[in-house]
Amino acid sequence: MLIVGGEDHKTGQANDADARYAALEVWTRERFLMVEEILFRWSGQVMNADDGIAYIGKNPFDEENVYIVTGDSGLGMTHGAIASILLTDTILGRKNTWAEAYDPSRIKIGAVGDFVSENLNVAAQYLDWLTPGEIDSVEKIAPGTGAVVRHGLTKLAAYRDENGILCEHSAVCTHLNCIVAWNSSEKTWDCPCHGSRFNVQGKVINGPAINALAPVNTEKRM
Ligand code: FES
Repeated sequence: MLIVGGEDHKTGQANDADARYAALEVWTRERFLMVEEILFRWSGQVMNADDGIAYIGKNPFDEENVYIVTGDSGLGMTHGAIASILLTDTILGRKNTWAEAYDPSRIKIGAVGDFVSENLNVAAQYLDWLTPGEIDSVEKIAPGTGAVVRHGLTKLAAYRDENGILCEHSAVCTHLNCIVAWNSSEKTWDCPCHGSRFNVQGKVINGPAINALAPVNTEKRM
């Protein structure tokens, strides 16, 4: 079995998963002529570090006994093996020559440009507060799909289940108030600012948000 990944996009900033899956399949079939059936496909999130190297070690500004492994930048299987060795040594007080390279509190001057452009990208997402909704009425939402609709000064994340029941939540992300976007492939609400994701019931499935989207109305039928 062969696993192929790619066609990345920023969370909540694209809703064209079918086209990306198709491009991946073309790429794969051109290079691996023996490929027959596509058995599974899925999407998830890649945490990228500014310098492409994972953060493995003590969590800065936290209790002494809190350790993290994140920022895998697409190399999670490799970093997982490294982390098992590095964290074991750190906890047992053994010197490990990799510790500095993976130190979560490191600052890389060369990564400042990326840091600035990433934050400009986040700032641009707040313009969603000013734009119209994707559709002008929840009546236009077909069963099994969702859309962001304007509601006065704010926006709602509206999902209609397969039975026609409308499930509405505030579209305002509970992390830092960006407007979430509908992910038609995974059927989730994804935040374009820092990657929080919520299921159609508004529950958090991926941080940094820790609180659910505020419910608005769950009883309307098509
Ligand atoms: S505002 Fe949504 S993840 Fe930060």
